[in-house]
Amino acid sequence: MTTMTRMQFIVAVLLAGLIGGGPLAAGQVKTAQLTIKADQGKETINRNIYGHFAEHLGHCIYGGIWVGEDSDIPNTRGIRNDVVEALKQIKAPVVRWPGGCFADEYHWKDGIGPREQRPTMVNTHWGGVTENNHFGTHEFLDLCEQLGCEPYICGNLGSGTIEEMADWVEYMTFDGKSPMADLRRANGRDKPWKLTYFAVGNENWGCGGSMTPEYYADQYRRYQTYVKNFSGNRIFKVACGPSGGDYNWTEVLMQKVANRRALMQGLAPHYYCGTGRGSRSATEFTEIDWLWNLGSALRIEEILGRHEEIMDKYDPQKRVAIMFDEWGTWHAVEPGTNPGFLYQQNSLRDAMVAGLTLNIFNNHCARVKMANIAQMVNVLQAMVLTDGPKMVLTPTYFVYYLYTVHHDATLLPTELDGPQYAFEMGERNLSGRFPPPFKVEDGKGMLPAMNVSASRDQSGRIHVSLVNIDPHNAVELAAQVQGAEPKRISGKVLTAGEINSHNTFENPTAVEPAAFAGARITDTGFIAELPAKSIVVLEIEG
Ligand code: AHR
Repeated sequence: MTTMTRMQFIVAVLLAGLIGGGPLAAGQVKTAQLTIKADQGKETINRNIYGHFAEHLGHCIYGGIWVGEDSDIPNTRGIRNDVVEALKQIKAPVVRWPGGCFADEYHWKDGIGPREQRPTMVNTHWGGVTENNHFGTHEFLDLCEQLGCEPYICGNLGSGTIEEMADWVEYMTFDGKSPMADLRRANGRDKPWKLTYFAVGNENWGCGGSMTPEYYADQYRRYQTYVKNFSGNRIFKVACGPSGGDYNWTEVLMQKVANRRALMQGLAPHYYCGTGRGSRSATEFTEIDWLWNLGSALRIEEILGRHEEIMDKYDPQKRVAIMFDEWGTWHAVEPGTNPGFLYQQNSLRDAMVAGLTLNIFNNHCARVKMANIAQMVNVLQAMVLTDGPKMVLTPTYFVYYLYTVHHDATLLPTELDGPQYAFEMGERNLSGRFPPPFKVEDGKGMLPAMNVSASRDQSGRIHVSLVNIDPHNAVELAAQVQGAEPKRISGKVLTAGEINSHNTFENPTAVEPAAFAGARITDTGFIAELPAKSIVVLEIEG
């Protein structure tokens, strides 16, 4: 199979009359060529890449998930039904809890037993509010059972004791007779829960204890010793990973901890992206902020690649997984809301960030085994927003919905030769503390317009998720599918009128997926017209 040249492709598209049914005006065609190596898939895209994170922060837990059994909001044992139903639709595979920064201040024994008797605490990180501990271990594990997902618990290394951490694991997983198992039974749960994922601290370089990597590595080794496998349950132990591009953290952890196989199975980097010197608002922004935020999202590819290189040096067999357990957009809070609650709106731009990042994680699935977007409800880049009994699905939610096809599918390697998205910078002054996360050439800010990932599911169907971040230009894509004979193609598209289009309680459907009819099968693959600022997910059957 030969690769179609750009000119051949344009001619093919014109002949097919694919674009608006008529010839294209000169200068309007952006083209891309894609090869999908359907004969070379070997890695599985772990469904936990589509994981979530729920912290005791603002209205993520209280109001967003937990309303209490006596609430008028329909609930099951205190957990709101609408949110559970929405998360089931996107097949939420795993939820990380209780933090975040909150985790290293959390004392789990305060969150068990009769709710009215549970002690309170001050949530010092997030608004200084009083935490009543009504949502604790039993409630979280009930949430996971209602969702049909795996729990991922983050233990307290920063301010908790080893004994406390050891007791927690015994409480949740020991089946026999023991002080902690008996306490669990006294609190109404006879059988232990299955618990696979357990993190030993969160951001211990910062809110989790301001530790150096050397100090944390030693502490990690000590604490994890007492995180035991009880009653046939096997714990996958996760160490705190670096902040963004802190490569030294990874180097030290790999050197000091990964040298003994049983000590850590996962390392958890965090990376958030925001805007630079423009508007930090989630909805009131212009194209420079779009460019900046998406450029900053795309940086994750380089960051991930450099951490992987370090890990490969110490662990070429990839025994230690990357568990990217916090990532997403971080904008200004919505006007009038508590700054400590991190409540932000979510627009088409956030959907783009999700689409780009999830494609990158898919493509790195040989090392990335879990990722948890921050956060599930009402905080940062949320799936859903709630207001009392009301709930709205965000544009990011719909990316998760469209990408469910990649869960546990086999990654198919791709090669993309795509156009650049160029934004005229004008007189903007880009000097400042952070360099722009994009190339500047001839007064234009430039980013690759597209990214992609492809997979084959268990029934043999191929799915391709394509992101076109260019807000002005559609892209004509010519794809070859090596090692397969596509017969039928269909798809869905997520786009909207404006770069800042978003869903509100009053207008909940401004951004939602629609059927996509812009793709056709060719002799060697398919051609597709990807609208400006869109995410398209195609399904190809042979
Ligand atoms: O997700 C919000 C906060 O961001 C988390 O609590 C912390 O781990 C990170 O800094």
